Amino acid sequence: MSHGQAQPMTSAKSAPLKGTASVPGDKSISHRSLIFGAMAVGETRVTGLLEGQDVLDTAKAMQAFGATVTRHGQGEWSVQGVGVGNFAEPADVIDCGNSGTGVRLIMGTMATTAITATFTGDASLRKRPMGRVTEPLAEFGTLAYGRKGGRLPMTVVGAADARGIRHTLKVASAQVKSAILLAGLNASGETVVIEKEPTRDHSERMLVGFGASLNVEKTAAGHVITLQGRPNLRPQTVAVPRDPSSAAFPVCAALIVEGSDIFVPGVSQNLTRNGLYITLVEMGAEIEFQNPREEGGEPVADLRVRFSGAMKGIEVPPERAPSMIDEYPILSVVAAFATGKTVMRGVKELRVKESDRIDAMARGLEACGVRIEEDEDTLIVHGMGPGGMPGGATAKTHIDHRIAMSFLVAGMAAQKPVSVDDASPIATSFPVFEPLMRTLGATLRRDNA
Ligand code: S3P
Repeated sequence: MSHGQAQPMTSAKSAPLKGTASVPGDKSISHRSLIFGAMAVGETRVTGLLEGQDVLDTAKAMQAFGATVTRHGQGEWSVQGVGVGNFAEPADVIDCGNSGTGVRLIMGTMATTAITATFTGDASLRKRPMGRVTEPLAEFGTLAYGRKGGRLPMTVVGAADARGIRHTLKVASAQVKSAILLAGLNASGETVVIEKEPTRDHSERMLVGFGASLNVEKTAAGHVITLQGRPNLRPQTVAVPRDPSSAAFPVCAALIVEGSDIFVPGVSQNLTRNGLYITLVEMGAEIEFQNPREEGGEPVADLRVRFSGAMKGIEVPPERAPSMIDEYPILSVVAAFATGKTVMRGVKELRVKESDRIDAMARGLEACGVRIEEDEDTLIVHGMGPGGMPGGATAKTHIDHRIAMSFLVAGMAAQKPVSVDDASPIATSFPVFEPLMRTLGATLRRDNA
């Protein structure tokens, strides 16, 4: 996706949010359902697929590598896979748009097939480091030629006859872990990935579902994940559960907009994804977890969320970061409406997301009148209490969907409206954010309509 015209948007003090917030499918699982489907032989059916731009770009990429991807209806897709090691060489550059997950997982998937592919993305993705993926892939014999600092555009030359590797992750990253496992699929013998801090485990769960032989051992050194190479992956029916990272926005909006009371069905309780929800409860958020069950292979619960005027700032344990890595921007908004300070340490990974999220949140919140302290690895927000944020500013979103949604949520509870310079990136992960929030009662306005 090339980045089109900016869409400025403003949110203003909203009536109590009421009703049901049914958020779209999980982005991580959506990408994986298309990629794993492309690696299986036969037809994988997917329901509840997130039709956000990131996932659509991955669908296009899978076609370029030879799979047949078909849309049958809203969220209903099929993938005719080509089988492990059978990717075709794409005829053109693969444009992954805004998606770090898309590009990194796809690089892993083609890394052990003797084909060459060139990857690019939008201005945000072209700033992000790919070395964290290409360095471990080099251990399989994969070559990568990118711009300075391992930036896109980048050409990846897949290794022929690769052998499995044993790799200890240097950063807590599910994208890197998944890229190595995907490369290991077409390598002989075992591929072993060791992660000191557990990150989202969708690849491991889904690979087992697709018939790979994968074992996770919990040791003192962390999780030791062992994958047997060259399996025949069997096509699956994947029911994508809702995205807890998208649910975070209506949930947090309801917590800070006075009088709110909303219902959010099917929010993942997967321990590698639910760090935000644990943190909010510790802050004193009124969230009821109802009807725990399994959906699409993930533990989920329905959430009833009420305005919570008594939330207190806390120190978020750094070891919780991987399970809420995408939720720090919206947590920092909630923190601004809590009493006391919220300390987020061990968060330097936020600096290499779709934008430098520590900087984007710090500058935007300061512009809204909130006191912030920050260093390379830390963000501290001094809460102003319920309704305390002055607002009345425009935040720069830096082509980052979660920054845009976070400031629009802030404006729903701030004293004066909050604007964002560009809300268009929201379509990468949560295309129905605007109508969904309006239905709940949020005041949102497009500024150049
Ligand atoms: C993702 C992993 C995380 C997360 C991203 C999705 C995934 O990135 O931020 O939104 O689907 O594997 P890192 O692995 O770089 O932490």
